[in-house]
This record gives sequence, C-alpha cells and structure tokens, in this order.
Amino acid sequence: MKKILLLHGPNLNWLGKREASLYGGLTLKELEQFTQAEAHKVGLALQCYQSNHEGRLIDKIQAASPSCHGLICNFGALSHSSYALHDALIDCQLPAVEVHLSQIKEREVWRRHSVTAPACLQLISGKKEKGYTEAISLLAEHLK
Ligand code: DQA
Repeated sequence: MKKILLLHGPNLNWLGKREASLYGGLTLKELEQFTQAEAHKVGLALQCYQSNHEGRLIDKIQAASPSCHGLICNFGALSHSSYALHDALIDCQLPAVEVHLSQIKEREVWRRHSVTAPACLQLISGKKEKGYTEAISLLAEHLK
C-alpha cells in the first residue's frame, strides 16, 4: 500500500476552537480521521503529523523519503513565509499537494500568497475538509 504523509503546521492543533466560519468545525483529530478514511477508499495509507515548529516539519519531510510516496501539506501561516519548507519539499522529490481549509485568496493581503505552493503539484484552498478529499484523489491519480 502506498503511503501518504499528512502534515499540519502551527496552530492547526487548535482546529475545532479556531474560527469555524473559516476553518470548519472539525478538530485536528477528526480531520485526520476523515482524511484517513478518504485515503483508505482509494487504497492509500495515511500517516499524520502536526507541529508548531518549522524545523520539526522539515525533519519530518526529510525523513519521509523513501518510505512515503506523497505528501499533503497544510503548513498554516508558514505557507506564507517559509522558504525553508519550500526547499524541503523540492529536495525530498515527493509529489505534494498543499491544502488550506479557508480561501486564502479572499483574506488579508499577506495571506493571499503561498511560498510553499510552487513546490507542490497543486494548491487547494477554501473547501474546508473537502479539500483533503480532493488532495487524496489527486495523489491517488498521480501515483497510479
Ligand atoms: C490556513 C490558512 C493560513 O493562512 C492560516 O495561517 C492557518 C490556516 C488554512 O487552512 O486555511 O493557520 O492554512
């Protein structure tokens, strides 16, 4: 079974108590379980990891290859600033899909641009948990 690593960045451990109108009502654990179920439907295994620390996320990406076949990333606010995460995605050479629960293009100016998305196959934004379903299908198709 091919393995996908689902990465969440800073403050996403607080899903469920963050603004539900932007991020939906699921806790991180529920979102991970939801994505795990979606992955199983298409024959993929999902490993989940969240950290509030940029370096820990980079360590996880570096350790992912070669045991993982793809990544789904929601780096939270680090998506808008972390060139180090961008480089880690490029260097690990794994197909990645970036997901944001909220529609970043319709929010504050600083939030509209992602510096990590150019290292990904696609950026999915504003679809709440459905964005994760889309990311799973994209990777399943890509890894066929
Ligand atoms: C987010 C969007 C980011 O701008 C924000 O900092 C987050 C969540 C999203 O999923 O919509 O923490 O990544």
